[in-house]
Amino acid sequence: MISSMRDRLESGSTVVFTPHYTSSMGDMVVAGKRRISIQFQKQMEEKFKEQISFLSAGELMLRGSSLKHMEEVRYPGTGWVLVEFDTTVSWIETLIQLKRILRKGYYPLIAHPERYRWCRQNRNRLIKLSRMGCGSVVSARSLRFKKYAAAARGLLTDGFCHCLCSDAHSPKDLILDNSLKDRIQGFSTVPWSVLTGELPELILNDMKLPELPLITHRKSR
Ligand SMILES: [Fe+2]
Repeated sequence: MISSMRDRLESGSTVVFTPHYTSSMGDMVVAGKRRISIQFQKQMEEKFKEQISFLSAGELMLRGSSLKHMEEVRYPGTGWVLVEFDTTVSWIETLIQLKRILRKGYYPLIAHPERYRWCRQNRNRLIKLSRMGCGSVVSARSLRFKKYAAAARGLLTDGFCHCLCSDAHSPKDLILDNSLKDRIQGFSTVPWSVLTGELPELILNDMKLPELPLITHRKSR
C-alpha cells in the first residue's frame, strides 16, 4: 500500500492514520500506540517529503459509558474525533453517547454508519445527527462486505455522508485512488472532490460540516 501510494494518490493529499483505540484501553497502552503511530508518521513524512502530508489520529471504539482517550485520538488541531460502536449498538445508545461527546466540546465523526442497524433501518437519523454537529464518514472498505455494500452505496448516492475514507487495514484494501474514484463517480450524486477534498478539508481546519443530505452538492450530469 505504502510503496504504491506515491503513484496512486494525488500530490498534495493528506493521509490521516487512524489506528484502532477503545475507550476502555489503559493509559499506557494508548500512549504506546500513539508513540508507534507518530513514529510511523515521521517515517512516511521522510519517505514522501513534500508530496503527501501525514497526520496521526485514531478511531475510537466507544464501549460502555467511558469516553476516555478522545484527546489522544482527535484529529490534530481540531475538535473532531472519529468514533465507532459495536455494530449491534442501538439508536438510543448511539444518540446518548454522541450527545455526551458534544457536551464535552468535541465533534464526533461517525465512522462507517452503514454498518449500524439503526442507520440501515432509518438513514434519516443521520440528518438529525448532522444538525447536532456530527459528521458521517462512509468507509470504502464496506463496499467489499456483502452485508454493508448496499447501505454504503445508498449513503454515497443520496448524499447521506460527508466524507469517504479508505478504512484500509491491509495492502489489499481500497485506497482513495483513481480506480476508486471512477467506481464511486459511477453512482454517487455527490462529486468525488467534495467527499475526498472539500469536506475533509473542513474537518482538518476544525470547521463545522454541512447538514445532510448534501443536496446542495448534487452533481449536474
Ligand atoms: Fe471501524
